[in-house]
Formats: sequence, C-alpha cells, structure tokens
Amino acid sequence: MRTIDWDGGAVRIIDQTRLPEEMVVLEVREVDELVAHIRSLAVRGAPALGVAGALGMALAACRSAEQGGELDADLAVAAGKLSGARPTAVNLSWGVEQLRAARAAGAGPDELVAAALAIRDADISANRALSERGAQLLAGARRVLTHCNAGGLACVEVGTALGVIERLHEAQPLEMVYVCETRPLLQGSRLTAWELGRRGIPHRVIVDSAAAGLVLGGQVEAVVVGADRIAANGDVANKVGTVAHAVAANYAGIPFVVAAPESTIDPATETGAAISIELRDDTEVLALAGRRVAAPGSTGLNPAFDVTPAALVTAIVTERRTISGRAAGTGPGRAPGMAAAEEAGLNALD
Ligand code: MRU
Repeated sequence: MRTIDWDGGAVRIIDQTRLPEEMVVLEVREVDELVAHIRSLAVRGAPALGVAGALGMALAACRSAEQGGELDADLAVAAGKLSGARPTAVNLSWGVEQLRAARAAGAGPDELVAAALAIRDADISANRALSERGAQLLAGARRVLTHCNAGGLACVEVGTALGVIERLHEAQPLEMVYVCETRPLLQGSRLTAWELGRRGIPHRVIVDSAAAGLVLGGQVEAVVVGADRIAANGDVANKVGTVAHAVAANYAGIPFVVAAPESTIDPATETGAAISIELRDDTEVLALAGRRVAAPGSTGLNPAFDVTPAALVTAIVTERRTISGRAAGTGPGRAPGMAAAEEAGLNALD
C-alpha cells in the first residue's frame, strides 16, 4: 500500500512511528493534524513530505469549501503551517508552492485536489526512473551501504536510494546491503530493514559508527543515499551521519551516489551552508527506546541532518539526469557502471 495517499477528502498515511511493530494507517482530515504528523515523523522522507505538502493544501481547500471559508486566506494559513513544519527537506515547501501556483492560475478546490494527485503520481514515476538510472550507474556493485530510509516509506510507493538498491538486486542478486541503524530515531533499523526484509534482499543492520570500518575494510563497493535538499552547487543535505559515509567512501575510492528527484534540488539555495538544519529535541539523543540512558544532568545536541560537500559526491541521480560530482570514485571498489556513465558524459549541476 502507498505511504501517503488521498481518500475521499482525507489524507491517508502509514504511521511510521509505529513500524515495524504494527501497521497503523491514519486518516487525516485537518491541516493541523497533518502538521503534527509531519513533526512527529509519522510521515517523513523528503519526497513523501513533498506530497504531504501538496495534499495538505488540497485538504485546506476542501475544508474551506465545506465551511464556506475564504479560499485564498485559508490556503495562505495552511501554506505557512505546512511549510514551517520541518525546515530541511525542500520538497515540503516545494509541494506547497506547486499548489499555490495552481491556485494563482485559477484552480478551485477540485482542481487543487487534482494537482496534488498529479504530484503524488509524478513521485512514483520519477522515483522509478531514477532508480533505474542509478542501478545502471552502479551496475556490478554487489555490496552496498545505505543510511536512514530512502525507500518506498520515504516516498509514495517507489524509493530513491532504496529504489536503486532494489533495481540492482533485480538485475543481479546483491550479496549484502549494510543498513546503518540511523540514530537517534532508527529509520535504518526500523524502516529500511523492514522494507528490505519484505523484499527478501540480504541485509545487515549496523551501528552507524561501524560504517567507516566496513568501507575502509573493502566490504562495501558503493554507498547510496537519498537527500533532503541539494544546493545549487551540489552540496547535499541528508540525514545526520551521511557526511561521515561520504568521507569514508572518498578515502576508500568507492562511489558515493545520491539518488533524489529533481524536486529535491533547490536552485535558490546557493551552497550547503545556507541550508537550514533541523534541530530536534535533545531527549531523542539522551534516551534509548523511550528510556533515558545519558548521565543525569547531561544535555544533548540533536541536529537531524548534515551537509555533504559536493566535492565528496560521485554522482547525483535524478529522474532526468545523472549529475557528475567532483569525486571520481577511482579506488578498487569502483563499480564498472561508473566508467560507462562517465564515458557517456555526465552533466554538470549548473
Ligand atoms: O528525518 P527524516 O526521516 O525525514 O529524514 C529522511 C532522510 O534524511 C532521507 O534520507 C531523505 O529524506 C531522502 S528520502 C528518499
């Protein structure tokens, strides 16, 4: 079933805070409720947030029509709440802006719902296309590492980084996917491992700090991750911990590939330094499974994302293009597909 969808005037989402223990589907009829679910990460992952932004605006339009409200005023309030729910993934405000543009072009509530559904459908086809492109780029890699969850749960149906991994596995069975657990909220061990398990793809969950040792020890042939925002210069914001994997991959000379739809590229943000990094409550860091483990009196610091400089990115794969990064990935673990892609001539980001 889809991670996020529209059903008879309501947004339906899989509550990802409850996975993998139980599959709970939430039916959301109010924008404030959706904003709360975005903040709690019941719905999460950049592409899914883009669709949530668009469907949230559709929700606002429907409620406004039912209650005889002033559509433009109601949409403006909803846009502010939705866009401000989480700051780093540009897709969220992108989804909201797509609907604002539709309204500016004269769309009424029904057309706004249709516009949001088109964004939902485009997410599926874009991720299918970029997954295929990424798998071609990394053809031959059999042991890969990923961080956080960039699977179907982070999108509508088809994942980005995990979509690439699934296509690689279809082409030739993978030996191993190393899944970083992704402290503090464990999107890797809870969600990515769940998705891989359902598809029968061999995987092992590792603590985040095990990744560099595996990469430098030759056990990993490629690192594939998603993105929350890609600046105009190619710097990539993704789940905290990602930059450490990029440093290790570069040192080892293996590809570090970012798979993301075009909607994650933010031309208005010049470099990664300008990306707003969400700071979450430090209790998430100080506790394990809801129980405080840090020493009494200690406080924490909980940035939810970090920025990988473009210089450490081998390639960014979108549904339309493969953008060459500045890191060539020339080491022993280099996937054969990389050379072919480079010969085919990769595009520059600008
Ligand atoms: O805090 P989250 O779980 O929303 O963070 C998600 C990530 O960092 C993903 O890697 C990113 O959004 C890409 S999802 C295809």
